[in-house]
Amino acid sequence: MPIKPHGGVLVNRLLEGAALAAAREKAAALPRIKVDGYMAFEIDGIAKGLYSPLTGFMNEEQTRRVLDTMHLRPGVPWTFPLLLHVSQDEADRLGVGQEVAIEDDRGDIVAILRLSEKFSVDKRELAEKVYRTLDEKHPGVAYTFSHGPVYLAGDLDVLQAREIEHQEFNLTPAQTRAAFIDRGWKRIVAFQTRNPIHRAHEYLTKCALEICDGLLIHPLMGTTKSDDIPGDVRMACYKALMEKYYAPDHVMLSIMPVNMRYAGPKEAIMHAIIRKNYGCTHFIVGRDHAGVGNYYGTYDAHYIFDEFDREELDITPLFFEHAFFSKITGGMASPKTCPGGPEDHVFLSGTKVREMLQRGEMPPEEFTRPEVARVLIDWATGAK
Ligand code: ADX
Repeated sequence: MPIKPHGGVLVNRLLEGAALAAAREKAAALPRIKVDGYMAFEIDGIAKGLYSPLTGFMNEEQTRRVLDTMHLRPGVPWTFPLLLHVSQDEADRLGVGQEVAIEDDRGDIVAILRLSEKFSVDKRELAEKVYRTLDEKHPGVAYTFSHGPVYLAGDLDVLQAREIEHQEFNLTPAQTRAAFIDRGWKRIVAFQTRNPIHRAHEYLTKCALEICDGLLIHPLMGTTKSDDIPGDVRMACYKALMEKYYAPDHVMLSIMPVNMRYAGPKEAIMHAIIRKNYGCTHFIVGRDHAGVGNYYGTYDAHYIFDEFDREELDITPLFFEHAFFSKITGGMASPKTCPGGPEDHVFLSGTKVREMLQRGEMPPEEFTRPEVARVLIDWATGAK
């Protein structure tokens, strides 16, 4: 039996056929709000069931429960609110009970919201509870403070899915679930990443694969901060790596069109829940998962899983300590699997790696595969 979606039902809010045609016609005459690309990704995620069991944007009561209890309802963990923010002017134009057309950043009407509630939340509380900081240098906190002051709740009827680069890899949860059945995979481990896959990442995925049937390499491709490596460069890295270093029958690459929140532990829980909706049974959580700067402890994203019952999360987290190449054992390892101290590890900071790449220098093979390094050098030196 495939793993059950979160809350029991895989949501699909994408309209089709006659219902779609009718909604398109109706939408043109409805009051309209405009959203940015970030919100357009949230709508797309709700449409395709990534956020099952949510069928729309949260209301005040759900938001309170998520902030105060980390649950959507008893037995259904949830760690950050999914909110549709608008300006006061926009909110004033709209009445509860109305339908509202949503236009995305590309000028397309992508959804109809059945407006059930307008409400406000103290943004400081929101930021503090989700991100555990009020520092506006934190990208998630900055975005929260930039919200219009009003949130709109209600179910969504979605008129079109969001097309993104490498769309052929952008499988929906229904499609990955079908793909796993086709391949005969029962134990499927998902790997979240917003970076190229270096040797440490590769090690985690392969340790996990030793106890699973299949690996879903599932890079996040929603909005990321401007200094993260662009999606198309990362895709080229993943493909180069998979071509040579993975067993094709046991690995699959697909995109996750979700915004990066950099919320560390709270995001790790949501990353796991979303992967459950995609049909995965296991989820990798390494060091400083979904972290940014120094806002979270290295293993906070491990500890937070202890705050939930095993059954209510259902998907099994696989925790990994800091991985590196050990000069003593001559292989990838962690403090749990090799002797020695930091002087025996090959460690390069992100800044150091960037400097090397910009100079056209190959980082050591113990840090990254040469095929991946070449893609990154071409990008960093502007050669491609
Ligand atoms: S993240 O924002 O998606 O977490 P990244 O793509 O760097 O960033 O990490 C992907 C996954 O690999 C996360 O689970 C992270 O904790 C883990 N990870 C990254 N580097 C290491 C490392 N050297 N050792 C152990 N885990 C790591």
